[in-house]
Amino acid sequence: MKKTIAVLEGDGIGPEIVRESLKVLRAIEEKYGHAFTCTFAPFGASAYFTEGSPFPDRTKAVCDGADVIIKGPVGLAVEEMSRIPPEHRPEIGAILPLRSRYDTFANFRPVRLPRGLASFSPLKPELLGEGIDILMIRELVGGIYFGEKVEGPKTGMAYARDDCTYTDAQVRRVAVVAFEEAKKKGCDLTNIHKANVLATSRFWNAVVEDVARSYPDVRHHSLLVDNAAYQLVKNPTGLNGVVLLENMQGDILTDEAGGIIGSLGLMPSACIGPGKGYVEPAHGSAPDIAGKNIANPYSMIGSIALMLDRCLGLPGEAQEVWDALFAVFRQGFTTAELAGGEGPERTVLSTSAFGDAVVKNIAGRA
Ligand code: NAD
Ligand code: IPM
Ligand code: MN
Repeated sequence: MKKTIAVLEGDGIGPEIVRESLKVLRAIEEKYGHAFTCTFAPFGASAYFTEGSPFPDRTKAVCDGADVIIKGPVGLAVEEMSRIPPEHRPEIGAILPLRSRYDTFANFRPVRLPRGLASFSPLKPELLGEGIDILMIRELVGGIYFGEKVEGPKTGMAYARDDCTYTDAQVRRVAVVAFEEAKKKGCDLTNIHKANVLATSRFWNAVVEDVARSYPDVRHHSLLVDNAAYQLVKNPTGLNGVVLLENMQGDILTDEAGGIIGSLGLMPSACIGPGKGYVEPAHGSAPDIAGKNIANPYSMIGSIALMLDRCLGLPGEAQEVWDALFAVFRQGFTTAELAGGEGPERTVLSTSAFGDAVVKNIAGRA
């Protein structure tokens, strides 16, 4: 297969973990005889400082011309944000425009912790049963993130407003993706909402129930978002299967899920729309550990696996990346933020050594 890929390294740990993910992609490319042509382009806070825009026109052109996009995390440390005017900050000025440009409405965030890696979790091992295997599917281009934003003053009073809207079509398409996924996996689907307070949640649920009628074989449940946050800690395996979330609730619960499996560094993601998709870790630029070669590249390498599977239609190659990633842990290695705690003694690898170890496991099976 021949494909062109736009690579947006991003900020903070972005370039470090993207580098490792490309090593793994190269190993897959060689082993399977594919040809992936990567073009790098500036994106995020670093792009603002060098080009005056966090999503420069030339980056848009590279993305438009590519088959798929690999994006590292972007953003400055919260205390540093004032160095960039609000409209040029990478969140509002780059990530949201990237998502709406390609209408990537379905954000796949797998939360996986096999039983053998229970010691990574801060939870007691007996809460982890046979392991955590949740596929969180977060709506990504609607809701409060994309509604009108107003910052006062108005009629003499300081105020601010963020509108939250969802249309039938917006809810329906992501619900269909989630039900299709649950049907394919033969698993339960849990729909998360806040219908006891929010009109948009009541509407969301009505559309989800309507979609559910076309999937009589998929067992589905619904859960208030506050209870879901609680269940994730008290009984995470009870959520095994597909979990469907709107944009903002999905943002928050996916970070919580990262905490439950031990690290945001274990949270990859793929953003899928009607046309080209892109992949990115679920976490941010981790300014506190940037430049130290200690970040966990699993999230970015796992995002490559999701890209191979969901954007390029190469499930076999994707599975090989997952197997190689988990093999590194099985061989007794870990990364700095997952080290310590109960469980077997592990050797801590740097970011680059972890990438090398994944590549070795791919090459080893050639
Ligand atoms: P963060 O997700 O960057 O970091 C939270 C914590 O998780 C930190 O302690 C960090 O060290 C740790 N962490 C994250 N990724 C890790 C990895 N791969 N390996 C080891 N540890 C890891 O959250 P933050 O510090 O609140 O945000 C930093 C910036 O990132 C902000 O500007 C924020 O807006 C931005 N952000 C961007 C994205 C994105 O690009 N999609 C996502 C979330 C946050
Ligand atoms: C994420 C991030 C983004 C979001 C921010 C940085 C805009 O937190 O991808 O989870 O809230 O969607
Ligand atoms: Mn987030």
